[in-house]
Amino acid sequence: MFNNPAHLYPVNRYQSLVLAHLACQEAVQVAASAGKPMAALSAVEICCGGSPAALAMKASGVGFVGASDIQGVSLQQTRLNASINGMSLDRVALGSGLEPWINTGPWLDLVACNPPCLPDALVDSRLGTAWQTAMKGGSGGFDLLFEILGALDKVLLPHGRFVFVVTSMMDFERIAQFLHRHVEQAWRVCPGTPVAAPYCRLDEAVVPRLLAMRDERHIFVWQGEDGWLWRLTWGVAVGASAAAMVSDRPAFGFYPYGFMPTAPDYLHALEIFGQAIPDNPLPKVAPR
Ligand SMILES: C[S@@+](CC[C@H](N)C(=O)[O-])C[C@H]1O[C@@H](n2cnc3c(N)ncnc32)[C@H](O)[C@@H]1O
Repeated sequence: MFNNPAHLYPVNRYQSLVLAHLACQEAVQVAASAGKPMAALSAVEICCGGSPAALAMKASGVGFVGASDIQGVSLQQTRLNASINGMSLDRVALGSGLEPWINTGPWLDLVACNPPCLPDALVDSRLGTAWQTAMKGGSGGFDLLFEILGALDKVLLPHGRFVFVVTSMMDFERIAQFLHRHVEQAWRVCPGTPVAAPYCRLDEAVVPRLLAMRDERHIFVWQGEDGWLWRLTWGVAVGASAAAMVSDRPAFGFYPYGFMPTAPDYLHALEIFGQAIPDNPLPKVAPR
């Protein structure tokens, strides 16, 4: 259970809980590949907000779990969520990115993160400071993410992993290029992702602008037939070394896990991005 006060980024189903689930999934794999029990792992959630991933990892039996954020209000939110669930984390720290966890050498098995990731130009300036800090990710939505990727070797053990979420409103093509350049094949999109996520109502003022960006191949969104604009969320895992991750999926695909949207505008978005239209996107309907 999570407390979601209106002035703070909420623990939500389409990013926070996707990350929480994937962090536990990756922890199991890291434990197996390192030959350690879960209780011997050390993991942190950075940019923790209400700490969905940290609390899920603690509940799954990870031994040391920490959480950190640049905003004090997020740490209060974390402590409240921990107490609501009768749990406590091993360390809750104030600080930017990986900085609170940099020690004399690498010591972490897993780092989880849902970074601020909306391109700055798309953040509603009427929102309060805490929301803006949670959302603003620089011009392509990836500034802090790239900084973290560049510092992983300071904290991650050789078998360790970094797991994070990417939305299709970030500059995901730049992110893929960055990953190919910096970690080569040691990254993959996590099983069970991308998930399709409603973003905003189609009658909101920002929608024509988002569709124009989509038409220029900057973001991947589509108009659902339910009155909502939809996007995708991928989970990504990066190995601390090539040996830590044998990757079979180092690419962002556009077919959401579990169901294929049937909206004509989704198929149009696939065309814009040069993707094959699935043979049978429509669910089978039993004859009357
Ligand atoms: C998108 S929210 C994610 C919150 C939570 N992890 C979740 O998934 O629900 C991003 C969080 O990053 C924090 N943040 C923003 N800039 C940061 C930075 N430089 N270092 C650490 N945390 C930062 C914000 O305060 C916010 O809590």
